[in-house]
Amino acid sequence: MSLDELYGEIILDHYKNPRNAGEMEDPSIKSQGFNQSCGDDITIFVRVDENGRISGIRFSGHGCAISQSSASMMTERMRGKTLEEAEEFISRMRKMLTGGGDFSELGEYDELSALRGVTKFPMRVKCASLAWTTLETGIEEFRGEGRANRT
Ligand code: FES
Repeated sequence: MSLDELYGEIILDHYKNPRNAGEMEDPSIKSQGFNQSCGDDITIFVRVDENGRISGIRFSGHGCAISQSSASMMTERMRGKTLEEAEEFISRMRKMLTGGGDFSELGEYDELSALRGVTKFPMRVKCASLAWTTLETGIEEFRGEGRANRT
């Protein structure tokens, strides 16, 4: 099997059997995002523990195979990270997806490398980025609320 075939299978597998799909009751973060180009949407639910770490993460919504598989992989990668680590990783992903970073830093056999093919197609970049940017917005809002609550 070629690497491209492997990447295709990874995307299909996450699309058909999404990890952490569904809603979450009483999440610390709930963030909704839209892909303006196609109207598809996603909602990300996150539970943040007392140490500022992502202890649970789920997603729901509608979208193409790229957006759904990217969301599924995103949830697996984000669980256990602190919010700072999550933000740092999201910014790396954004760079890689928009062609400003190199997927090779993840390694060929990292599942997320399956998304490297989208970088050539601006419409697909939006699909692949949707879950990540929606989580990023949710974290920013969570921090904003946290600050407001402390003052
Ligand atoms: Fe709508 Fe990909 S076509 S998210």
